Amino acid sequence: MSGLGNTEGPRIRQQAASVAEYRRIRVTKLTPVIGAEIAGVDLRETLDEEMFAEISRALAEHLVIFFRDQDITPAQHLAFGRRFGALHIHPAAPHAEGEPALMRIHADANSPRANGEGWHSDVSCDAVPPMGSILHIRLCPETGGDTLFANMYAAYEALSPRMQAYLAGMKAVHDGEDAYRGTYANYGVADRPSYPRAEHPVVRTHPVTGKRALYVNRGFTTRLLGVPRDESDGILAWLFAHMENPLFQCRFRWRENSIAFWDNRCTQHRAMWDYWPAPRSGHRVTILGEAPV
Ligand code: SIN
Repeated sequence: MSGLGNTEGPRIRQQAASVAEYRRIRVTKLTPVIGAEIAGVDLRETLDEEMFAEISRALAEHLVIFFRDQDITPAQHLAFGRRFGALHIHPAAPHAEGEPALMRIHADANSPRANGEGWHSDVSCDAVPPMGSILHIRLCPETGGDTLFANMYAAYEALSPRMQAYLAGMKAVHDGEDAYRGTYANYGVADRPSYPRAEHPVVRTHPVTGKRALYVNRGFTTRLLGVPRDESDGILAWLFAHMENPLFQCRFRWRENSIAFWDNRCTQHRAMWDYWPAPRSGHRVTILGEAPV
């Protein structure tokens, strides 16, 4: 029987180990490829500079970080998000009353769908898509409702040099129309006349790490520019399948008052709606980013 090393599938390079120890937080990896749980932080308190710097470094090193047992208020959730930048207002999704930056994440027995069921990077249809998202789950099912995260540096690095050369300099259309029209009707949200649509590089360079990440996703990317439609459809279908390889992923099991903080510039995620009719509920605070380059 051949071992894993003999397969012809994509390969991943181990992430470089952290160059420095953390002084204030404890960081436990979920997988060698993506994700880490952070302990030693109380998010009800304002982060001092050192704590902020360590959490920022953990996010850059692990791409998605998780906190447990954080019984925070909406105001504390918003304050944590604002520490990392100005907040993003979702172009379609429902939000907490009077607080447009606090997006509602909710599914129950009456829901026709759950948020984020397909692989995506949040709101990549915006001209300036979000840098990161912070999801606080207050109520979760006994089993199910996990969220999967995938490392888009690893997905890019696992491409052949020929495919990397083909994609270099290419742009793609990201369109919010299909993703958002009619999607939130069950929350009483009326459709807007139009939804955001943007063109972004297929491979983007992360402004903090300087690393390249694949930046197309099933949720929003509709078209590669500069190639015929059928070629675009074929290459996108292959890229979506490639980036969804479990080799690049971790899977997070929620508990009440867990938080996930992910970097949308180098990850994609997918929420599992395998818990119907049980309810799952929380809020997401999303941080503005920069135009991808
Ligand atoms: C989302 O895409 O923000 C939803 C993720 C989740 O509910 O786990």
